[in-house]
Amino acid sequence: MRYAPLTQAIQGETVDAWDIHFKATSLKEKDDSVIVLSIGDPDFDTPSQVVDSAVAGLRNGDTHYVEIEGRDELREVIAASHQSRCGQEVSKDNVIMLAGAQNALFASSMCILAPGDEAIVLQPMYVTYEACIQLTGATLVPVAMDKHNDFCLDYAALENAITDKTKAIYFATPNNPSGLMLTQNELQFIADLAIKHDLWVVSDEVYSQTVFEGEHISIAGLPNMAERTITLNSLSKSHAMTGWRVGWAIGPTTLINHLSNLSLCMLYGLPGFVQQAAYTALTDPQALASSEHMRVTYQRRRDRLVSCFQQHQNLSCITPQASMFLLVNVSETGLTAQAFAESLFEQQKIGVLPATAFGECAADFIRISYVVEDSELEDACERIDRFMALLNANKQRA
Ligand SMILES: Cc1ncc(COP(=O)(O)O)c(C=O)c1O
Repeated sequence: MRYAPLTQAIQGETVDAWDIHFKATSLKEKDDSVIVLSIGDPDFDTPSQVVDSAVAGLRNGDTHYVEIEGRDELREVIAASHQSRCGQEVSKDNVIMLAGAQNALFASSMCILAPGDEAIVLQPMYVTYEACIQLTGATLVPVAMDKHNDFCLDYAALENAITDKTKAIYFATPNNPSGLMLTQNELQFIADLAIKHDLWVVSDEVYSQTVFEGEHISIAGLPNMAERTITLNSLSKSHAMTGWRVGWAIGPTTLINHLSNLSLCMLYGLPGFVQQAAYTALTDPQALASSEHMRVTYQRRRDRLVSCFQQHQNLSCITPQASMFLLVNVSETGLTAQAFAESLFEQQKIGVLPATAFGECAADFIRISYVVEDSELEDACERIDRFMALLNANKQRA
């Protein structure tokens, strides 16, 4: 049978990078000693108040078609929280509920990009951006952050990447995989360029509730950015709700109307009981306390991993300010990131990701997530120490 050309656009080359992850998860089913640090799925359960709320919704018959954009009270809570955090004046009419930030990213791209357009994405970038952008017929133009300077914005590279075809600038802050956040100066520079060249800005903020230090800034709150910014967010990471598929886009009302028309034919809204659960996640004091507990726990785990990597002279890691990942530069070991990750898996049964999948600038790095309990993380650190001791001993012998 013949398939549509768009099927080419969604066949990412990045799939290879997940090989070790797939091997690790499949071996884990037979061998409990495998430690999977290759995925960004929280190990916490969704707070019980949120689960109870969904169950009550189901029992009470909240199982019918819903308002396409999402329920007013839920969108009002999201709008109020966004406004209080970043200062952008918004109401529920600026918010649409979609099936995770992923779905919001896809839908937003469909509504702003077209064949012939160019969309700049700051790299390292989350792996699904490529397909989302290519599906629209637009061309993804990667702009690498400066890997020699802790992945700061390369101001000149960004400015030089803009052409008369550029339609949008995409980024995630905090970033996956680096866990770093764009600074006020960097965001102001992006905003100035966007205003000057009349560009959209797509700001993916799914890790903004999991910040350890530094200030997370939403570009939408900067002067004159509201009309051209789409802010994406979700409950996946903040409330350990990856499987619920609850996310949203915040943007100008005309964009929200277009997204609503797209949702009508693509999704037809989020299930009512899921929206009820999302409302509980964002308003119930105990659910919010659970989210905060997760944040503090990630921070403790981050500190443990950072101290582990700092002990090894030929590894250097960038301390993440947020998220549940960190990047480790393994180039000084003499191994490629792929070879390092493969050996670590084969010798110590730890699954990590070669970060090449996130862009060329991350090619020297592996990405490690900290979504396992303290005892397992401790075990992982000891195995990494053993792995490095053996690697260095072999190197000296050679
Ligand atoms: C940067 C980034 N954006 C978007 C997503 C998708 O999140 P969601 O589960 O809300 O669709 C992820 C998931 O890992 C991510 O890391």
